[in-house]
Amino acid sequence: MTRQQLGTVLVTGGAGFIGCALSERLAPDAARWVVVDSLHPQVHATQSRPAALADAAELVVGDVTEPELWDRVLADVRPDLVIHLAAETGTAQSLSEASRHARVNVVGTTELLDGLGRAGIVPSGFLLSSSRAVYGEGSWQRADGTSFVPGQRSHAQFERGQWDFEGATPLTSSVASTWPTPTSVYGATKLAQEHILSAWVDAHDSALGILRLQNVYGPGQSLINSYTGIVSLFSQWAAEGRSIPVYEDGRITRDFVYIDDVADAFTALAGRMPRAGVVRYDVGSGVATTILEIAGHIADYHGAPAPHVTGQYRDGDVRHAACDIRPTIEALGWEPQWSVERGVAGLQEWIAAQAS
Ligand SMILES: NC(=O)c1ccc[n+]([C@@H]2O[C@H](COP(=O)([O-])OP(=O)(O)OC[C@H]3O[C@@H](n4cnc5c(N)ncnc54)[C@H](O)[C@@H]3O)[C@@H](O)[C@H]2O)c1
Repeated sequence: MTRQQLGTVLVTGGAGFIGCALSERLAPDAARWVVVDSLHPQVHATQSRPAALADAAELVVGDVTEPELWDRVLADVRPDLVIHLAAETGTAQSLSEASRHARVNVVGTTELLDGLGRAGIVPSGFLLSSSRAVYGEGSWQRADGTSFVPGQRSHAQFERGQWDFEGATPLTSSVASTWPTPTSVYGATKLAQEHILSAWVDAHDSALGILRLQNVYGPGQSLINSYTGIVSLFSQWAAEGRSIPVYEDGRITRDFVYIDDVADAFTALAGRMPRAGVVRYDVGSGVATTILEIAGHIADYHGAPAPHVTGQYRDGDVRHAACDIRPTIEALGWEPQWSVERGVAGLQEWIAAQAS
């Protein structure tokens, strides 16, 4: 991609895990790469510029929910492309801190758009990091082949230890066939971001590329944020020689996708944005891994005791999550390169290097 193609890029939340990986990949190709980030204390151990943020990035420390910030930033920056990453990301936390999640994820998005409106700027495109959380439990299939949307597992169901929906198996989620039914406040706010940005770009003849990301992990993820990133949490426990506790019966599944593959997907989409309108893609590894399996890989790497299943649960947790990446591969010419085994090793090496 050439500087001319990317132009001036504004990245909200661009000092975080995904933002830093994108800056390394794309900032050198942008005319300007301007990051707006509050350096959230839950994510950033110190309120200073992350070392992983590319040198070419200009960092503005500020909160996306504040209109004055946007008036100040957009007086100086006329973005061609906006990459919207800023978010409160604690899925479980969002149940007890719903307003905080809604304020940043929903109002933060609308304040950005209102700021663009006041400045008279219509970027040619937006990229949004949406989430698998918009699918909730997705669709399941009964023994007779019919499918249904089960909704959320109830507290009573958890108490009974009935982890799955009886007599049914989960279907792989996909943009084309799965109706979004978020089961967390976080998921609902990510879906709201999709709808808000879609409405705005359609009304302004701009373009929006939405990537629904599965569980992203790898070097650069926050090691202090205990509300997200179980892979980094498990890694730290195993490195201390502890047995990793695994919830429910250990057979919750997730699609773990390595950060380099996610950065590649953003890069591929940035290079193939439509002139106008909205496109949505699922981004994952395409492989469902149980939590017990990934905990086992991490324990093996460190020679730690085997993980143990606790039977505990978290209200609002989704039982199975995986996506169909074939349409994304076809449309973007992108393909994930990292297996879970290789990715887990890559993360452990990075964590060890941080400690030394
Ligand atoms: N990491 C994943 O597994 C994953 C999966 C699906 C979707 N996503 C989405 O990707 C995006 C980036 O996630 P990440 O993993 O890099 O998380 P992250 O927490 O590392 O990065 C988010 C960044 O946003 C900043 N931020 C938070 N509140 C802000 C505010 N009010 N104003 C300005 N900046 C603020 C934080 O300081 C942080 O640097 C988020 O929108 C998230 O919902 C992530």
